Amino acid sequence: MVEAVKGTRDILPEEIGRWHYVEDAARAVFGLYGFREIRTPVFESTELFQRGIGEGTDIVAKEMYTFSDRKGRSLTLRPECTAPVARAFIEHGLDRGGGLQRFYYVGPMFRYERPQKGRMRQFSQIGVEVLGSDHPAVDAEVLEMLARFLERIRLGAPEILLNSVGCPVCRPGYRDRLVAYLGPKRDQLCDDCRRRLETNPLRCFDCKVPSDQEILRDAPRISDHLCAECRDHFQRVRGFLEAAGIRHRIEPRLVRGLDYYRRTAFEVVLPGLGAQNALLGGGRYDGLVESLGGPPVPGFGFAVGLDRLVLSLPDDAPIPDESPEVVGLAIGEAAVGPILQVAGRLRGLGRRMVFDPQPARSLKSQLRGVHDRRARFALIVGDEEVAGQVFTLRDMRGGSQERLTEAALVARLREDTRA
Ligand code: HAM
Repeated sequence: MVEAVKGTRDILPEEIGRWHYVEDAARAVFGLYGFREIRTPVFESTELFQRGIGEGTDIVAKEMYTFSDRKGRSLTLRPECTAPVARAFIEHGLDRGGGLQRFYYVGPMFRYERPQKGRMRQFSQIGVEVLGSDHPAVDAEVLEMLARFLERIRLGAPEILLNSVGCPVCRPGYRDRLVAYLGPKRDQLCDDCRRRLETNPLRCFDCKVPSDQEILRDAPRISDHLCAECRDHFQRVRGFLEAAGIRHRIEPRLVRGLDYYRRTAFEVVLPGLGAQNALLGGGRYDGLVESLGGPPVPGFGFAVGLDRLVLSLPDDAPIPDESPEVVGLAIGEAAVGPILQVAGRLRGLGRRMVFDPQPARSLKSQLRGVHDRRARFALIVGDEEVAGQVFTLRDMRGGSQERLTEAALVARLREDTRA
């Protein structure tokens, strides 16, 4: 048997209600803030990610699904969607009118990582991007929207970990300071950090090795070495967040795994997620559009890992019931026609109805099946009903049954079946 590829998985109908619930909430909340959906292709030119995310990042260096098409072009399954949105923004001249552009997206991303709980090779993100302003109010407003979304899906108000990672003016100086601090301790660092020291020293902060973390505890902090503009920007973001009552904690060691970030960077972690505890991440990326050949348009956004979010939903989340309301039970071939016909009318009223014209089971076990599907009614038709042109409607809640003509049945089910 051919099985699903390692790191991918099927989302079965039993689980899908949780996904719809989260996606619907996101669309509703993001819509309040003027975000509109954008759908970009699942694969792009490899160069987009090399230039956008950065050659020195783990994503580009070792996690991309890159392949050549039949004409020898190098293509990559998107590992994230900020660079594709920036590409689409440039390609369609979406900044023509000036002002802010707000996008959101939902869809699969691909990274060749070691699979574990909450970490997949194909995973889904729901993300937002605002292009066109470097005002700190944009950062704060998007974070406020994020908090509203998490609240709406009853994740409470998880703490936002916030930092500023500086800009091309202040980061090089900070980088030198960090290298000067870590350089003499090089031999005590893990292999990965020794490599990072050469390519991207700030990424050392992401190391999970306890002895490295110990060394990094006393390392210089970027927040102490920001230029005046970055410091002012960060203070204003924090001021707006405090005014809006958004819970956040400054995390001076927070760095992100993608090179495009400038100034604000943030993550939300959830303890229950285990090692893969980052539920979402984002920040400001003011140089990205320009580095991809577009105008100097600043940007800010975040992406939530949907797989992790769905795993973290509380038990009392009001997941919409997508089960059928009415299940038709045909006893004998003669019942099939009348059930098919009335099913059409009931669906016309908006009632969800299913039926199986060739049930292989007894009526009793079919009724158990109706109960298991949490349907409110069974609509039973046997020879007697066919002869009398009636339907037996069984209310699964109390077990009471009524014999109804088609007109009476339609009138009865016109009401809300959940009531
Ligand atoms: P990221 O931190 O690489 O940021 O990914 C965002 C979220 O995607 C993570 O916090 C995590 O929940 C989820 N995620 C990442 N990798 C995996 C995986 N292998 N399996 C399951 N979930 C995963 C970005 O992608 C940026 N584009 C976010 C952004 C948008 N920044 C600005 N705008």
